[in-house]
Amino acid sequence: MDSLLTKNISKSFPGVKALIDVDFEVRAGEIHALVGANGAGKSTLMKILSGAYTASSGNIFINNKEIDIQSPGDAKKNGIVIVYQEVDTALVPHLTVGENIMMDYLVNEQKSIFVNWKKIHTRAQKEIDDLGLSINSKQLISDLTLHEKQMVLIGRAVYQNAKYLLLDEPTAALSITETEKLFVLIEKLRKDGMGIVFISHRLDEVFKTCEKITVLRDGKLVNSFTSEDTDIDTVVETMLGKKMDSSYPEITTEFGDPIFEVENLSGTGDIHDVNLYARAGEIIGITGLIGAGKTELCKLLFGLGDINTGKITVKNKELSLNSPSDAVKQGLALVPEERRKEGVLVGESLATNITLPTLDEYCSKSFMNTKKIRKKAIDTIKKVHIKTPNEKQLVANLSGGNQQKVVIGKWLISQAEVFLLDEPTKGVDIGSKSEIYSLIDDLAKQKKCIIYASCEFSEILGLTHRTYVMYSGTIVKELETKKTSEEELLYYSTGGRDFGKK
Ligand SMILES: Nc1ncnc2c1ncn2[C@@H]1O[C@H](COP(=O)(O)OP(=O)(O)OP(=O)(O)O)[C@@H](O)[C@H]1O
Ligand SMILES: [Mg+2]
Repeated sequence: MDSLLTKNISKSFPGVKALIDVDFEVRAGEIHALVGANGAGKSTLMKILSGAYTASSGNIFINNKEIDIQSPGDAKKNGIVIVYQEVDTALVPHLTVGENIMMDYLVNEQKSIFVNWKKIHTRAQKEIDDLGLSINSKQLISDLTLHEKQMVLIGRAVYQNAKYLLLDEPTAALSITETEKLFVLIEKLRKDGMGIVFISHRLDEVFKTCEKITVLRDGKLVNSFTSEDTDIDTVVETMLGKKMDSSYPEITTEFGDPIFEVENLSGTGDIHDVNLYARAGEIIGITGLIGAGKTELCKLLFGLGDINTGKITVKNKELSLNSPSDAVKQGLALVPEERRKEGVLVGESLATNITLPTLDEYCSKSFMNTKKIRKKAIDTIKKVHIKTPNEKQLVANLSGGNQQKVVIGKWLISQAEVFLLDEPTKGVDIGSKSEIYSLIDDLAKQKKCIIYASCEFSEILGLTHRTYVMYSGTIVKELETKKTSEEELLYYSTGGRDFGKK
């Protein structure tokens, strides 16, 4: 049977053995999940197969014939195409969908100096239609959603006759319906004989879509399962190398007075008439579907955007928020959703990133206490389990999930009163998730307020005391977590008005 196979693939970076003797096989006509904790080596293996990195040692075979992959061009020639989560890097935003799909043709095969645009768009549109997508070939890439851009990239892979498609966390930022559409598409490609590698931290979707599951741990391939013959607990244990206890801590239930209050807030991002409060020691959920306005609300509360009406108070003092630095000075902290874009300086070290928001603590007059900075950085690395050789490592060299943990870590050590956390566990592995939950619980015990925005209802139910449901830019319902259910959260998230009387 046709397959793509690696033998003894190893890859080292200074101070890190990212992959050790990995034998991995994906067959044609199979959707094969690659799972593992943050930093396990998943992306590195995909980058080697797609030519972004070269292996330190080992061999790659297609149908038992050795192939040489030194560049993305070599991978493409052998029918291997990768779709990264950062789709923008692979597309030209000011060109049309058609031009992006047909890029190879335009660059390599178009012989005449006159481009036959009609032909280009007809051909691209056929490709799009065959895949069952509702995108117009003449649309500009810059006008598409992330999900549509992913679809264009997959369309391009199909046009390029890809035999093996590597998807690195494609669903992390998609809504439920977009995720389902993506699954329909990859199932179609599988039936047509493509071999697909699928990386995700959401094990429920892995079990739903993939027939095989391979687990990497600390750079080694520890086991491969057939989904039918295993279960989530076994896979998690294999990933972490130990049994996992319950994900959620027993959260405290002792609250102080309300310290964070928002009245009739309207502003940027179509946020309107938002009222909410949080007491000292309380973990408040903000839930709703992707696009309901959770991120916009968090940003507005943090001084990123214009407030048109309404007021925000911390300990009865009205805030004047003109910028994020105002927000920090007045006791707020935000872990933004787009962490890699907004939350970290990837060209700087871990130590710099972690201590930046609290830099005042390490400076006296114009002297920086580098010893103290180092200690704080090392403490935080331990606390949030960042996988790195040391605190001097550049954040750019960390795995995706570990970059996220840097942003979470740097705010969790700050002295803020109110923590705004926007989808903080997105892209974070299941073991680290539960560590983050207990850090949040520690903050609650210290009588801080936590505003926890998440579209995952299970998190909202597991972690919060009270939750607000958002729909179309405003809060439509306040619920006591103990007394609600996934069903009720979904009902209000999709525009329902009165749960009891459905
Ligand atoms: N360019 C690089 N330089 C140095 N170290 C690197 C580089 N790329 C990856 N690493 C290291 O290799 C290891 C594996 O990283 P990789 O990105 O493959 O993990 P991953 O399994 O994809 O994790 P995640 O779930 O967080 O995305 C990590 O320890 C990471 O820090
Ligand atoms: Mg990765």
